[in-house]
This record gives sequence, structure tokens and C-alpha cells, in this order.
Amino acid sequence: MNANMQLDGKVAIVTGGSRGIGKAIAAVFAREGATTVICGRKQETLDVVARELGNRVVPFACHVGKPEELSRLVDKVTGDLGHIDILVNNAATNVAQGQALAIDDGQFDKMIEVNLKSAFRLTRLVAPGMCRRGSGSIINISSISGLRPQFEGMLYSTTKAALIMMTKCYALELGPQGVRVNAIAPGLIRTVLSEYYWKDEARLAERLEHQPIKHLGRPEEIAEIALMLAGDKASYLTGQVITVDGGATIA
Ligand SMILES: NC(=O)c1ccc[n+]([C@@H]2O[C@H](COP(=O)([O-])OP(=O)(O)OC[C@H]3O[C@@H](n4cnc5c(N)ncnc54)[C@H](OP(=O)(O)O)[C@@H]3O)[C@@H](O)[C@H]2O)c1
Repeated sequence: MNANMQLDGKVAIVTGGSRGIGKAIAAVFAREGATTVICGRKQETLDVVARELGNRVVPFACHVGKPEELSRLVDKVTGDLGHIDILVNNAATNVAQGQALAIDDGQFDKMIEVNLKSAFRLTRLVAPGMCRRGSGSIINISSISGLRPQFEGMLYSTTKAALIMMTKCYALELGPQGVRVNAIAPGLIRTVLSEYYWKDEARLAERLEHQPIKHLGRPEEIAEIALMLAGDKASYLTGQVITVDGGATIA
């Protein structure tokens, strides 16, 4: 045991841990002593990331939109590691950017499956064990687009807003059993998902002009907040949405 590490001995699952915010969260959790299982759709990509982040990071391929793969993930982690202390529902997609009236049923279903139902299904699989042991932390990665509508991002905003309400509902029911459930609402962060908003220098400059903190967010700046929510120091914190956006939403 290492008392200087905030997550020493804990077991975490981070979905979408192969790049971007999820990878940064996995790096910070592992640094703080947690055995951290990362999932994404491609085993080879995850293997490379796990080698880079060190032997506390365990790669496991899993499509979060497929219920049988989620069950396999949770069975494997509980079988190999005994229990799960921390769940980070981070994986998400945005396949339906564009005018709201052009969205079809297929896009709607896919966005719900990947961005929302995955968190519902994983919570249902993981939380009972946390409740039995009387402790656990679930962190849902939402977005400031879940707090205010993203232009031509109707489904993305809808799924992220629903994830916030899901967070609060679970927090209410699971709190008495020792399980805390919180959400993070990041603003613009430099990742593949958000390239459109920061790759073009003029578009980025325009955004930053209206933001009190003048740099583009880094995945590590979300990961350190996830660490705070995951650890026991946040023992009185549940049902909250922590907005981490350089102040964009107050400007
Ligand atoms: N970047 C931002 O500005 C920003 C702002 C607000 C909120 N967020 C939220 O932050 C979270 C992380 O986003 P990011 O920006 O880090 O995105 P990213 O760089 O595109 O990474 C997404 C991760 O999710 C995985 N993933 C995607 N679809 C998946 C699926 N069906 N099953 C399993 N894994 C899947 C990807 O791996 P594979 O492709 O290999 O499967 C990857 O590891 C998301 O919830 C996003 O909505 C991001």
C-alpha cells in the first residue's frame, strides 16, 4: 500500500480509454495507484496505450453500444480483479452533426445507444457490487452541450443533457448505499472528437475570445477533476455536475 497515492488498491473501468479524455483519465488513475481497465473498440490500439501508460492499465476491447460486450467486460474485470470501485462512462460519439430536421431514426438510435444507454447498462452491471460493498464512485462524462444547446448538435446535446439527469437520479438512489454518482461537463478540449472546433485557427480564436481562461482545454485538465471525484476525499460530493470549461459558460 502507498498512502501517498489517492487511488491506491482501487479498481477502475474507463470507457473510451484509448485516446483523448479517457486516456488522460486512465493515466492519472494509474499514476495514483488504481488498476485501470480501459476499453475502446480496437484491441490493438488499447494494447499500445496500455504499454505506454504502464502495467496498472489493462486493455479490454468493448463496444459500449453492444450489451453482450458490456457484460463480458464487467464479468472479466470482476473475475480477474475481484471488484470495481470506480466507473467512468466516458466513451461517446457524434454521428449526427447537422440540422435537427435532417436526423433519421438510425442516427437517433445510435447516439442513444453509445452516449446514453451504455452508461445505463454499465451502471446496472457495476453498481450492485458497489452497493453490496458500501462504496463506489461513478463518473459520467457529459458536456457543456448538455447544459445549453449545441448549434446543429441536437442529438449530442440531448444525450449529454439526459446523462446529467441520469447522474442525479442514480445519485439519489445509490447514495444511501455508499455509492456516489457525479458528472463532468467539459468545455472545448483538444481531442479528435472536437477537432472541427479547434483545428481552424480563426474559429478557435473566436471561441477563446469569449472565454475567461485563454487556452484550449487539455484532456489532463479533465482527468484531474475525475481523480478528485473518484477518490475518497470527495466523500460528501454526489449528484453534481462539475463544469470544466475555462469559464466559457459564464461568459
Ligand atoms: N473533446 C471535447 O471538446 C469534449 C467536450 C465535452 C465533452 N466531451 C466528452 O468527453 C468524452 C470523451 O471525448 P473525447 O473528446 O476524448 O473523444 P475522442 O478523442 O474521440 O475519444 C473517444 C473515445 O471513445 C472511444 N469510443 C468511441 N465509440 C466507442 C464505442 N462505441 N465503444 C467503445 N469505445 C468507443 C474511442 O475509441 P475507439 O474509437 O477506438 O472505439 C476513444 O477512446 C465524450 O463523452 C465526449 O462527449 C468532449
